[in-house]
Amino acid sequence: NTAKITIDPAFVIGPVRRKTFGAFVEHLGRCVYTGIFEPEHPQADEDGFRTDVLELTRELGVSTVRYPGGNFVSGYRWEDGVGPKEDRPTRLDLAWHSSDPNLVGVDEFAKWSEKAGVEPMMAVNLGTRGTQEALDLLEYSNIKGGTALSEQRKANGAVEPHNINMWCLGNEMDGFWQIGHKTAAEYARVAAETARAMRMVNPDLELVACGSSGPDLPTFGEWERVVLNETYELVDLISAHQYFEDFGDLQEHLTAGHRMEAFIKDLVSHIDHVKSATKSGKQVNISFDEWNVWHMSRDESKTPTGDDWPVAPVLLEDRYTVADAVVVGDLLITLLRNTDRVHSASLAQLVNVIAPIMTEPGGRAWKQTTFHPFALTSQHASGDVLDLGVESPQLGSEKTPAFSALSAVATHDADAKEAVVFAVNRSATDALTLDAAVGSLNAQKVIEAITYTNKDPYWQATADDSTSVLPSENVSVKLDGGRLTAGLPPVSWTMIRLS
Ligand code: AHR
Repeated sequence: NTAKITIDPAFVIGPVRRKTFGAFVEHLGRCVYTGIFEPEHPQADEDGFRTDVLELTRELGVSTVRYPGGNFVSGYRWEDGVGPKEDRPTRLDLAWHSSDPNLVGVDEFAKWSEKAGVEPMMAVNLGTRGTQEALDLLEYSNIKGGTALSEQRKANGAVEPHNINMWCLGNEMDGFWQIGHKTAAEYARVAAETARAMRMVNPDLELVACGSSGPDLPTFGEWERVVLNETYELVDLISAHQYFEDFGDLQEHLTAGHRMEAFIKDLVSHIDHVKSATKSGKQVNISFDEWNVWHMSRDESKTPTGDDWPVAPVLLEDRYTVADAVVVGDLLITLLRNTDRVHSASLAQLVNVIAPIMTEPGGRAWKQTTFHPFALTSQHASGDVLDLGVESPQLGSEKTPAFSALSAVATHDADAKEAVVFAVNRSATDALTLDAAVGSLNAQKVIEAITYTNKDPYWQATADDSTSVLPSENVSVKLDGGRLTAGLPPVSWTMIRLS
C-alpha cells in the first residue's frame, strides 16, 4: 500500500499565502465574551482581553481574523459598539437568539488584533442595512481625521485609523437563515453598489463578495454566476463556506478534503465562466472564509428560544477528536494545494465556538486536538507550494465512491533551504507508505518528522487533559539519497521537514 510523490522545487503551484491561515471571531456564544474578552478574568489585560487567549492565538499562527460575523453581522449596528461603554445599548442578536451588551466593537477588535498580531477582516451588514452604513463604518475605521466619523473615532480614543484593508460584503446572503436573505439578483445589486462606493473611498481595498454557503445549496453555481456578472470588476474575491461532520462514519468523515477540493474546482469553473463570458482581463479568486469540522446542530447546541435571550450562552462548543484534527490538517493541505486560486481562508472559528482554543470563564484556556495541525502548518509552510504529482491508491466509501488515500502537499523555501511535506492518510483502517522522490531538492537531512494519530481516533482533549495525545516523532521516516520514505498510520496527519 504505497503512495508515490515527487518533490521538485521546479513545479510551483503558487506562493504560500499567509492569509490561508486566517480565523474568525463572531459575536456568537462565548467567542467574544469570556473568549477573547473577559475583564474580570485574572489574566485579563488593561483592555479586558484574556492574555492566555492572546498567547494561544499567537501560537496558533493566525494571520487574518474575520469579524464580527457570521450570521450576527446581518443584524448588526456597528455604531452600538463604539463610544463610552456605559452608553452602549444591549441589543437582541436574532441570529443566535442572544443579547449583546456591545462591550466589544470595532475599536476594541482593532486593538485586540494588534495585540494578537493579526490583520482584521471586517464584514459589513448587507442584511438589514446597506451601502450607507458600510460607508460609515469604512469612514469611521479608515479615514485619518477631519470628518464627522473619523473625528468621532478619535474622540473615542482611537487616534490612528484602523486601516482595515479586507472587507466582506455581507455574510451568506444566499442562506434562507440569513437575516435579510436575498436572491442572487438582489444581492448582486447591493454588493455591486456597496463595492463601487467603498472603492470611491479607497480603490485599493480587498473586497469579498458572498459566494455560496456550501456546495449543497441548490443555488450554488447560479448564485456565483449572477453575483459575479454584476460585481466581477468590483471585487477581488468571492467567498466559499463549507463545514464537515462525522455522521458516525469515520471513513466518510476522512473524505472531507476530497470534498473540499471538488467544491473549490467547481467554484473556480463558475468564476472563470463569468471571466470568460464578460471577456474580463481580471482574475477573481476565492476567500474560503468559513471552514471547519462542525458536528453540533443548533438543537443539540441548545440555541436559546422564547423569552430567553442570554448574553454569551454556551453555543456550538464542539469537542474535537484526533480524527477531526486529521481532517482539519487535510483541509489545510487542500487549501494550500489550491493556493493559485484560494487567496485567503478563515478557520471558523477561533475561540469556544467550533474552535481550536477553548476557555473556562474565569479559568483555564486550553487547546483542542485541531489546534495542532493548524499551528504546525502555519509555522512551517513557507515559500512556494509545490505540485507533487501524487500517485495514490484509490479508496471508496459509501457516499464518496473514489478518493485518494493520500492527501499531500509540500512547500519549499529556497531562502531557508527547507522543504516541508504535509501528508494525511485518509484510510480509516490501513497504513500507507509514502515514497517520495526528492533528488532535485538535494536535501541532506530530516529536521523533524511528526505524526498526529491515536489508537483511539475518537480521543478528545479536555480542560484537564489536553496533552496526553499530541503529535509525536514518526520514527519510520528515512531519507536515503534522493528517496524519502515514511509510514503513515491509518487516520493520521504527518509533517516532515527536510533541509
Ligand atoms: O460559523 C458559524 C456560522 O456558520 C456563521 O455565523 C455563519 O456564517 C455560518 O452559517
